[in-house]
Amino acid sequence: MTTQQEAKLQVPSFVTNPKLISWVAEVVALTKPDAVHWCDGSEQENEQMCDRLVQAGTFKKLNPAKRANSYLAWSDPGDVARVEDRTFICSAKKEDAGPTNNWMDPAEMRALLQTGQPGKPALFDGCMKGRTMYVIPFSMGPLGSPIAHIGVELTDSAYVVVNMRIMTRMGKAVYGVLGATGNFVPCVHTVGAPLEPGQKDVAWPCNKTKYIVHYPETREIWSYGSGYGGNALLGKKCFALRIASNMGRDEGWLAEHMTVLGVTSPQGKKSYVAAAFPSACGKTNFAMLVPPAGFDGWKVTTIGDDIAWIKPGSDGKLYAINPEAGYFGVAPGTNMLTNPNCMRSLDKNVIYTNVALTDDGDVWWEGMEQDDPNGAKPAHLIDWQGNDWTPELAKEKGVKAAHPNSRFTVSATNNPVLDPEWDNPDGVAVDAFIFGGRRSTTVPLVTEARNWVDGVYMAATMGSETTAAAVGQAGVVRRDPFAMLPFAGYNMSDYFQHWLTLGQKLADKGAKLPRIYTVNWFRKDANDKFVWPGYGDNMRVLKWILDRVEGVSMPVVEHAFGISPSYGSINWTGMQFTEEQFQTVTSIDKAAWAQEMPLHTELFEKLAYHMPKELLDTKARLEQQLAA
Ligand code: GTP
Ligand code: SPV
Ligand code: MN
Repeated sequence: MTTQQEAKLQVPSFVTNPKLISWVAEVVALTKPDAVHWCDGSEQENEQMCDRLVQAGTFKKLNPAKRANSYLAWSDPGDVARVEDRTFICSAKKEDAGPTNNWMDPAEMRALLQTGQPGKPALFDGCMKGRTMYVIPFSMGPLGSPIAHIGVELTDSAYVVVNMRIMTRMGKAVYGVLGATGNFVPCVHTVGAPLEPGQKDVAWPCNKTKYIVHYPETREIWSYGSGYGGNALLGKKCFALRIASNMGRDEGWLAEHMTVLGVTSPQGKKSYVAAAFPSACGKTNFAMLVPPAGFDGWKVTTIGDDIAWIKPGSDGKLYAINPEAGYFGVAPGTNMLTNPNCMRSLDKNVIYTNVALTDDGDVWWEGMEQDDPNGAKPAHLIDWQGNDWTPELAKEKGVKAAHPNSRFTVSATNNPVLDPEWDNPDGVAVDAFIFGGRRSTTVPLVTEARNWVDGVYMAATMGSETTAAAVGQAGVVRRDPFAMLPFAGYNMSDYFQHWLTLGQKLADKGAKLPRIYTVNWFRKDANDKFVWPGYGDNMRVLKWILDRVEGVSMPVVEHAFGISPSYGSINWTGMQFTEEQFQTVTSIDKAAWAQEMPLHTELFEKLAYHMPKELLDTKARLEQQLAA
């Protein structure tokens, strides 16, 4: 390091890890920021960042009487969601990334991003010119816990800093845990918009070119060109799922796209379930569910809303922690009817992204009209693209006030139903796994797998309609194994094998494995309307699941895929739902399944390399049963 470089680094005395310091120096030399800021996570620093973002035009401060200490950001219209076709798993061998991930040779990718080629400078070369590089130390999981892992994100986005401060345990204490010898996952992020001297910045800098890159062997993340969500908050999908799934495979644990929630019965019995639904398919809502009429004394509490790290304990049980500390949740559809606990957590200290602005400095999104006494939409708004919006415009031209993937960033501690164990470094023992896609047809409301292998098969072959959480056409059914299609950091068939092997190992030790269920809240009728009311009423299904886990005796319906409830075994108190409607959401239509099974075949053919034989056998058995 030259003296000039060292002066620019400004390493504070509380940073003592030589590996961290030399890595930051390396990235500074490559990206050439004007200054380096080592984040301490303090309140004062956060205020400074927010002020900076307001000055830059990235943030609007909301009316403090409506939303205390809260801000609204509008992104570039081309930077609104995860970019799956720009996301790469650069393992040494292509087959280790597998056919469901984009792959590039790591040497080729490093040349493109970091080292450059003759006549072709590296993308990261000088990418932070005119900007400040922020060093963000963060812990995924409780600070210092044996299951937590530390990451450090280098970014040129202050928006990323303030979001990471909510989403992770971020700040000075992390440097302490890291000490002089601790390890961390290095995460480099740039918006990819260097500034020429004197050039004025835009409110949401980003680049048309985007690369979200993971090196699983060296456990590194390099992200270029986007400032949004999972592309930029690298602790979330990049680290806690794609890199962590690799750690989990090597070390015998699971990193999953799951909400974890506690359920307390009126008798005081506490159970925990972990539920994997694809992006924008109901995890946050499920995590904060309010039990409906007929469920007096029942309580649902949140461990996490998006990601679970699950490790086998010495007692053979599976223990889950939430590696995150906040929620980056979907705004549209959230209101006092669908998710009152969520609405209550959104009154202060929130960052909103891509929702609409009301004339009195509050926020609004589609679905909030349900909270209006007359069901009315505001007469005027500024939409997420900064244009005037009226209900007439919405009606005539279909203009959305909020982007369908608009989000709130809020601390878990704002959640009125946060589970007391949410921060417990030991995690909570999982009693049941639930997998659910968004399917307007075919898949029944709830099914219990007869055993672990059948459950893994059902999760592996799950299909779901695509949503606005990723760039691309929404509403197309695709296979989304375990809700992990965009997030498994290695070969999907090896991932299936990992689940099978883990189950087998635990069973060999005599452990009672959690039962596996599939659910579908999204079956529609002939008029394209959801038949199942969903949200709080999902408690009725959850109760059936817990009754099954408990071994409560009740009449059931047996079918090829497993076990489903009979109409009479669901508590319908306070709800009008006819046996005929129940049929609509639970029926197994042989013709529909005759079209569905070839899609399983197609998936298994695509994943033929290392496809576990147990799953092929299960498929053959199911096909036989359906044909009979
Ligand atoms: P990510 O944060 O993208 O991983 O999404 P998520 O799985 O947490 O989904 P979320 O709970 O935010 O819900 C996404 C959308 O689905 C919202 O618009 C919800 O209002 C809607 N939704 C959630 N649960 C239900 C349900 O039970 N029924 C129906 N019909 N819609 C639901
Ligand atoms: C998802 O898409 O599953 C999310 C939002 O939870 S993001 O952080 O963008 O991945
Ligand atoms: Mn998610």
